[in-house]
Amino acid sequence: CIVRHYKFNVVMNNVTRMCSTKPIVTVNGMFPGPTIVAREDDTVLVKVVNHVNYNLSIHWHGIRQLRTGWADGPAFITQCPIQPGQVYTYNFTLTGQRGTLLWHAHILWLRATVHGGIVILPKRGVPYPFPAPHKEETIILGEWWKSDVEAVVNEAMKSGAAPNVSDAHTINGYPGSLASCPSQGGFSLPVHSGKIYMLRIINAALNEELFFKIAGHQLTVVEVDATYVKPFKTDTILIAPGQTTNVLVNTNCSSGKYLVAASPFMDSPITVDNKTATATLHYSGTLASARTTLTTPPPQNATHIATNFAESLRSLNSKEYPAKVPLKIDSSLFFTVGLGVNPCATCPKGNRVVANINNVTFVMPKISLLQAHFFNIKGVFTDDFPGNPPVQFNYTGAQPTNLQTTKGTRLYRIPYNSTVQLVLQDTGMIAPENHPLHLHGFNFFEVGRGIGNFNPNQDPKKFNLVDPVERNTIAVPSGGWTAIRFRADNPGVWFLHCHLEVHTSWGLKMAFIVDNGKGPNESLLPPPPDLPKC
Ligand code: C2O
Repeated sequence: CIVRHYKFNVVMNNVTRMCSTKPIVTVNGMFPGPTIVAREDDTVLVKVVNHVNYNLSIHWHGIRQLRTGWADGPAFITQCPIQPGQVYTYNFTLTGQRGTLLWHAHILWLRATVHGGIVILPKRGVPYPFPAPHKEETIILGEWWKSDVEAVVNEAMKSGAAPNVSDAHTINGYPGSLASCPSQGGFSLPVHSGKIYMLRIINAALNEELFFKIAGHQLTVVEVDATYVKPFKTDTILIAPGQTTNVLVNTNCSSGKYLVAASPFMDSPITVDNKTATATLHYSGTLASARTTLTTPPPQNATHIATNFAESLRSLNSKEYPAKVPLKIDSSLFFTVGLGVNPCATCPKGNRVVANINNVTFVMPKISLLQAHFFNIKGVFTDDFPGNPPVQFNYTGAQPTNLQTTKGTRLYRIPYNSTVQLVLQDTGMIAPENHPLHLHGFNFFEVGRGIGNFNPNQDPKKFNLVDPVERNTIAVPSGGWTAIRFRADNPGVWFLHCHLEVHTSWGLKMAFIVDNGKGPNESLLPPPPDLPKC
């Protein structure tokens, strides 16, 4: 088996965007950071050296980390941070996984600039289950702040109010021609006519779900979150932070330049943020001065496009790639996800925005939960997270009078190899919002989704148990619900959180403990000797 070695030097670097320059935290000086390329079943070793003045940790988003939770990366969940001057080598194997994923810092808001792609090619000699592309490109969507991102979140956490939104969205690091300071230009993708290109699109933005489209070209979706889907054509894809989508593009024009646009989807009335990042698809032989064919991005609140896209996704479910949907369920859980308000004496408004799951606002521990679990250290967490909301109410109707949440470092324990059904219900307590929930350590199947309150008597009858999409990050529709299923075959402590960083900071997170099984290969491996200490 093959071992791939990477070295990530985390260093400050001055980067210029939108006509101003600021120092940012980077990996190897790059923004976005380097792409990791490996094959299915390879082992990957990434030596991370912290040369900056921040505590760090890096997460390999969507990598299952079978029995190797120590390499998963979320700070204070599976490891203590890598402190300034320290080194930690992440060591993991890509067992049975292929496709596009991403890596990113998993502490504070450092992932704003510390992120990059992961490309896992199929095993040597194994073809894609779709026409072989002439060329592949990684497209990373992100955000750019003119101010210091850590200062933005620190200020918001102090005041209890919502943080500022970013100044631009980016495609492979550049805002493009519509942003102020267009002189810098944007990312340009050179193509030849009459070929098939595969774009590996990654949303690494902190707080925005994004629409993505290319003028004059249809996109054929073939993979999401490193799982193959039944191919379908669309003009526009929707991609939430943490999600990845592979599309095929037929370059069936003969020449020209075509606008590529990434624009926010936000159907909550809270924020108005209509900045569009642009790039160009540039046919070979076309003059740089040629006029670009434009496209209109969907309106910010185009919920129908979001819904259509979500409902078009199906697992490929072929003989080679069957959808192994759990049919019998051992634990049936119901989590409300949403925002709330807690009193705050020191806040200007007298209260602060908090977020919760089943009314628990998660409190980060001082040492990692995985260490506390493995070494049986008492007093770090409790395993009494509620599997159902403490009070039943009309989740999407009028808000209850008491919005106050409880606080705790509470985990939910699941037996090894048991099957879980989890209904995630958005609550419209302050305003309905779309929450992209990410589960570490597992892929899951989205067996159902709907608008309004989940109906436990009717809705399960309509579940798709044949070919539901399989992923690691799922957008819970605004004012609606989604039902996911997974098999708890990975012992360890696994984070579940909203991948809008602001909601994570507000407490929209919890963790599962999966106990060891009895068999020889069914327990969490011991920690590596260089695991950082708190
Ligand atoms: Cu991509 Cu816990 O994150």
